[in-house]
Amino acid sequence: MPTRRRLIVANWKMNAHLQSAISLAKPIAEWALKQAGLPCDLVLCPPSHLLIPVGEAIKGSAVRLGAQDCHWATHGPFTGDISAPQLVNVGCQYVILGHSERRQSYGEASPMIARKVEAAQQAGLTPIVCVGETEQQKEQGMAQRVIEEQVRQSLPDRYDTKNIVIAYEPVWAIGTGEQPGIDDIAQTMKLIRDTLGAHGATTRVLYGGSVAPSNAGSIFSSSEVDGALVGSAGLTPEGYIGIVEKVPH
Ligand code: PGA
Repeated sequence: MPTRRRLIVANWKMNAHLQSAISLAKPIAEWALKQAGLPCDLVLCPPSHLLIPVGEAIKGSAVRLGAQDCHWATHGPFTGDISAPQLVNVGCQYVILGHSERRQSYGEASPMIARKVEAAQQAGLTPIVCVGETEQQKEQGMAQRVIEEQVRQSLPDRYDTKNIVIAYEPVWAIGTGEQPGIDDIAQTMKLIRDTLGAHGATTRVLYGGSVAPSNAGSIFSSSEVDGALVGSAGLTPEGYIGIVEKVPH
């Protein structure tokens, strides 16, 4: 049985200001520093303009910094975008790519995400690639096909298989309080591993969608689930820490 260290990623989305970002990140870093041994890796993904102050707030702790997106180019005339080397330059080690909010609102299709994955890895970042079916796709019985296709197409032909994380986030479960049953989650994790092929057994696959301290214990009870991508519950130190505390030691 391969050992995959669990990972809890907070996706702050377009939330927090300078002061609230520090009030959120600092207690998490201080809590992490006090723990004798953490059962998992910890990552905070604030909006881009807060990467530097959040990086400062978590300095010296086990908490790592991640971004919510990056461009596929290293630099150039891309107004409003940010590149992978720029993220590395301000201390990022992870980047979320292909979140459903970006797929839906900005027309980000899987082949574009594959280019971003390549750029992120080249810069030294670990991409967290999001996949997941919509409510309609679920109702039409298309979930498996959609997830398989998204996994295949969102990864470049050649990539570092040791440096990639997949997050399964059913779109209908994001911010709704709804969730698939744990057996369904585990089954989808297996499907994702099968789709990844030979390295599926060693790749971390996270679950995302309404994860909270109240349901994290049951989600982590499956050995298929390597952690969580957390939205709203990650916007308070208690919410984030409450989830981390549910990771079995
Ligand atoms: P949620 O968001 O935890 O608020 O459902 C998860 C996500 O979008 O990553």
